[in-house]
Amino acid sequence: MAIQKVMVVGAGQMGSGIAQVCAQAGFDVKLNDMKQEFFDRGLGVITKNLARDVEKGRKTEEEKEAILGRITMSLSLEDAQDADLVIEAATENMEIKQSIFRDLDGIAPKHAILATNTSSLPITEIAAVTKRPEHVIGMHFMNPVPVMKLVEIIRGLATADEVYHAVEEMTRKLSKTPVEVNDFPGFISNRILLPMINEAIYALYEGVASKDAIDDVMKLGMNHPMGPLTLADFIGLDTCLSIMEILHEGLGDSKYRPCPLLRKYVAAGWLGKKSGRGFYVYE
Ligand code: CAA
Repeated sequence: MAIQKVMVVGAGQMGSGIAQVCAQAGFDVKLNDMKQEFFDRGLGVITKNLARDVEKGRKTEEEKEAILGRITMSLSLEDAQDADLVIEAATENMEIKQSIFRDLDGIAPKHAILATNTSSLPITEIAAVTKRPEHVIGMHFMNPVPVMKLVEIIRGLATADEVYHAVEEMTRKLSKTPVEVNDFPGFISNRILLPMINEAIYALYEGVASKDAIDDVMKLGMNHPMGPLTLADFIGLDTCLSIMEILHEGLGDSKYRPCPLLRKYVAAGWLGKKSGRGFYVYE
């Protein structure tokens, strides 16, 4: 199962990061989105990241140009016709993902692996809309993708061993560490991370401490690079809420109930860094 041609669906924060690390590792990458402006924005972020690497002496100008040269624009899923691996990083919505996978299944070559970067939606349910569920797998990258070492690899119920091993090998080629996980709500990363963030929000809601105090305790006391409320803003409060809802519904335990304060912030449109305001205000 040789992988050389990769298509990344979705040129947002995660998709552009995934395209960058694939191109850095020598893969040919088609970066797909619905409009050219989305692609341009994604490529702009990649270009900025690579320019910083050149500035810091980690890459040469030639290497930067070669990496950018391996990324081409795609505005149609039809471009998956010669892909060996498609990594979907579109909106976290089951209907949207299923529709993309249904289309990709009809377009991508028979041998192609269809991976999703979903952070918590069931791989098995996404795979079920294709005629190749054994070739469907979860490849969950962490944000910011160029920096974070982990890729959580999630086996759906039908994922074939050879597909798992091909994706594991591919992940190592990206200089990332693969960790194998089975298909349960939130997998491992968000099963553990999100309840911690939700608990931090409860602590704020109940007046146990101020937001700065909560973040300082976890940063200075536990050596976390960011406090949980800052991290929630960084992930997006709507994303945090959606993952908590998936955990709550999927695991059926009240310990996963989303904090009312989180619901209130999302209802107010305070979605964190991306909207300019979450637990903190961003200029
Ligand atoms: N893209 C590329 N590089 C980035 C970056 C980005 N978005 N953000 C930071 N970096 C790089 C910087 O360029 C910098 O490198 P150099 O200075 O060597 O050039 C390096 O990372 C460190 O950045 P900073 O000095 O600005 O800040 P920092 O030391 O606080 O690090 C951080 C930033 C890596 C984001 C760090 O704060 C961190 O690790 N935070 C926690 C991140 C985390 O938990 N991610 C998981 C989120 S959950 C998730 O992704 C899964 C999900 O499903 C919700």
